[in-house]
Amino acid sequence: MNSQTYLSELFSLDGHVALVTGGSSGIGRAVAGALARAGASVVVVARREAELAATVEELEADGCRAAWVSADLATRDGVREAAERAAAVFGEPDILVNCAGVNLRPPMGEIGEDVWDTTMAVNLEAPFLLGQRFGPGMAERGFGRIIHVTSQQAHRAFVQSGAYGVSKGGLESLARSQAEAWSPHGVTCNTLVPGFVLTPLNARLQSDPDTVEALAKRTLVGRNGVPEDFAGAAVFLASRASAYVTGQSVYVDGGFHAH
Ligand SMILES: NC(=O)c1ccc[n+]([C@@H]2O[C@H](COP(=O)([O-])OP(=O)(O)OC[C@H]3O[C@@H](n4cnc5c(N)ncnc54)[C@H](OP(=O)(O)O)[C@@H]3O)[C@@H](O)[C@H]2O)c1
Repeated sequence: MNSQTYLSELFSLDGHVALVTGGSSGIGRAVAGALARAGASVVVVARREAELAATVEELEADGCRAAWVSADLATRDGVREAAERAAAVFGEPDILVNCAGVNLRPPMGEIGEDVWDTTMAVNLEAPFLLGQRFGPGMAERGFGRIIHVTSQQAHRAFVQSGAYGVSKGGLESLARSQAEAWSPHGVTCNTLVPGFVLTPLNARLQSDPDTVEALAKRTLVGRNGVPEDFAGAAVFLASRASAYVTGQSVYVDGGFHAH
């Protein structure tokens, strides 16, 4: 067997369908690109149409199959509608990546119900509802991959983790509960745990060069993350190669957590 055949048996996503929320920006866009270039047909879901269209255009120009659905994942109806519209494009997804997220950072004492509700809705409830919609079908078909994008703030307090940290802690637990339910049926459920990644999400923190440098020094690699750092881990967790990896938190953080 030549190496291309061997690698393809392990990692190729040919014939698979992936739904990537937050696939129009930052980490989600890089993950969507990685899955598409590895062979999956990818539907990206977020709100802003221009960013979604640009993502799909870039992938199509690379010879990939991709499409977009604009939806607000902060409401239950928005999530349900997004799921049906996404599944109608290339068929039921067997890879679900929950990457859409918001990080609203008022100090703990000032977190109001609006911030709490939005954070929980986008970061935790949408992944739960999408899992309920697609997980049982994956289990019935005997193959599925659910990948959530959490945060170091699921594991430690960090720059006013507040409601955000709570939502990400819940998401880690959701992955384990889903893994418990569906792993016996070929559906693995894991989380990717970023450290500090240079994306629009933390533009405010990035505006202070001293903070950026101090955070880079806290990693073992010596630099902050970029979205492309997630490509390999995402393809691995989406592929046949990770069939025996489930209920795990996979840190893609340059060693931040270990330091
Ligand atoms: N950057 C970091 O350092 C870091 C660290 C730890 C964890 N993370 C996690 O990584 C994930 C991706 O973040 P990122 O850094 O790549 O940020 P980003 O570039 O701002 O991407 C966030 C994505 O979520 C989508 N989104 C936000 N609210 C939404 C809503 N109500 N409905 C639908 N889509 C929504 C955004 O699209 P629209 O605005 O168009 O809707 C965008 O595609 C998030 O879950 C975040 O918590 C990031």
